Amino acid sequence: MFSMHTHTCGELRREDVGKTVTLTGWVWHRRDHGGLIFVDLRDREGLTQLQFDPDLCDEECFRTAETIRPEWPVKVVGRVQPRIEGQANDRLATGAIEVIVSEIVVLNTSKTPPFPIEDDMDTADDIRLRYRYLDIRRPSMMANLRLRSDFSFAIRQALHDELFCEVETPALFKSTPEGARDFLVPSRTQPGHFYALPQSPQLLKQLLMVGGVERYYQVAKCFRDEDLRADRQPEFTQVDVEMSFVEQDDVMNCLESVLSKAFAKVGVEMSLPLRRISYWDAMDTYGSDKPDTRLGMELHDVTNLFGDSQFKLFSSAAADPDTYIKAINAKGAGTWARAKIDKLSGVAAEFGAKGLAYVAFNEDGSVKGPIAKFFSDAEMDALRAEMAVEPGDLVLFAVDSRLKADEIMGGMRNHMADALGIEREGHDFLWVVDFPLFHWDEERGGYASEHQPFTQPEESQIDLLDSDPLAVGSHTYDFVMDGFEAGGGGMRIHDAELQMRILKMLGFDEEGAKEQFGFLMEALEFGAPPMGGFALGLDRVCMLLAGADSIREVMAFPKTTSGSDLMSAAPSPVSDRQLEEVSLKTISHE
Ligand code: AMO
Ligand code: AMP
Repeated sequence: MFSMHTHTCGELRREDVGKTVTLTGWVWHRRDHGGLIFVDLRDREGLTQLQFDPDLCDEECFRTAETIRPEWPVKVVGRVQPRIEGQANDRLATGAIEVIVSEIVVLNTSKTPPFPIEDDMDTADDIRLRYRYLDIRRPSMMANLRLRSDFSFAIRQALHDELFCEVETPALFKSTPEGARDFLVPSRTQPGHFYALPQSPQLLKQLLMVGGVERYYQVAKCFRDEDLRADRQPEFTQVDVEMSFVEQDDVMNCLESVLSKAFAKVGVEMSLPLRRISYWDAMDTYGSDKPDTRLGMELHDVTNLFGDSQFKLFSSAAADPDTYIKAINAKGAGTWARAKIDKLSGVAAEFGAKGLAYVAFNEDGSVKGPIAKFFSDAEMDALRAEMAVEPGDLVLFAVDSRLKADEIMGGMRNHMADALGIEREGHDFLWVVDFPLFHWDEERGGYASEHQPFTQPEESQIDLLDSDPLAVGSHTYDFVMDGFEAGGGGMRIHDAELQMRILKMLGFDEEGAKEQFGFLMEALEFGAPPMGGFALGLDRVCMLLAGADSIREVMAFPKTTSGSDLMSAAPSPVSDRQLEEVSLKTISHE
């Protein structure tokens, strides 16, 4: 099929013995064995062992075999033969054979790579990123890219089969708020004017619905200037979807079917229908709006057990309707040394806790800990029953407002799961639904969208928009995989007046709203259909499928946490001339 080789390096089997083959690839390992030279030849499909025997090839071929070095690309011609008794390698797809080389062509030489091209290596991340093209030669990186390609192809196919139409939307657009800062691009022809790279195609896909596309999808690059973490990059990819003339269940059912088909193609079973948990149930039960339900250790509200307690923190909490005592049972941690348990209050402080009360249960069932003396036998019996306490357990408490106590215990739940080495088997998929429309933004001192400004409020609660905005629910759903927010979406406002009302509640005045979103509201006035959609974070899903601990491992050319590309040294200064062309001057922050 190809002029340069007849087979890949992962292809030859015992059945191929006797064939004359041509292979191309990189020299991986080379071993001199008293007159015989063995070379592992690697391409993206695998490795094939080559053997150079001075009796079976000409002198020049053998001399070349002596000079080739790791990472040189070569082409070889040879005969497939079975490996000798005892030398077969069952763990290798091509482990039954080797190729006796008669001809070799060196296609290029290579400098010695700055790190070994091996899977188990501990090269620093910045060196890997500086030479990413070499890092990608490692089989595990190559496997991650293939997995991503397979999943992305499968989900496109599933969407195409459901009659979704792929539409590309511009990367040079107007600022569309999704909660992060924009990356701006100066216009040369209109000095002082800027494009923004889209944080997502949100507004554009809503306009496509007004345009009658009905079922849209796009594998879209999104750009967000925000603090980077293991699951965040400044540019990332969404599988973005929108549908018209649908209700929330139609969208979710369609997505479930598409997602399950795509996951099945990469060998992951997803049993449908997926579990749906409301936002408040997720917060109260797991302390997170992206819970990993495999961890157990659910939160319990134990406020009412301590109404008459001698421990004042607890009895005052029980007397105050706005204060809650939330608890988790960290099974087995009660046997930890006192100092190790005491260190947990530092961890809880990171999640905003003012303190961390606890009681530990001895192997004989008795109670210990600094506050144990305050509790009656009846209180401890009630706690044992509520938290299913067994000897050796540790019960941790947070006392705070409902949401804060939930979040603190949610953070501790994840921490304790790691500290106790709780196994996470298989994958955990669920929907978290019915987020509140707004939350209160302390910093700005105003309402902020829990999802985004275009979300449809729960119709039956629209009359609360004026009296009690925080009580208004919304048509929203997050797709949670293994404790990560892997996707999110919702139904949209398709009424211009309601959209303006919501924007005003978010702090826009009429003019500001029109300036930024006038084009959307104008479009809504031209018969916008009911619509809803979703975006899947492709990088996060692939990270979880690959079992990687960062989305960088499934991106070919990711950026560092400071947003740099270490190969090209982007971002970098540009010439004065380039700046002048776009009418820009830079300000030094020295
Ligand atoms: P949202 O902002 O929730 O929704 O984004 C959807 C999904 O994209 C992924 N994601 C990221 N992945 C890597 N790096 C980032 N910086 C990053 N930010 C987000 C997450 C997230 O769940 N327009 C709406 C979707 C909609 O309502 O249809 C949106 O963008 O996995
Ligand atoms: P104190 O009375 O402040 O010495 O606290 C007694 C115990 O209660 C200590 O173990 C504190 O860590 C814990 N504690 C104090 N405030 C809280 C809180 N808001 N939630 C949970 N535990 C707390």
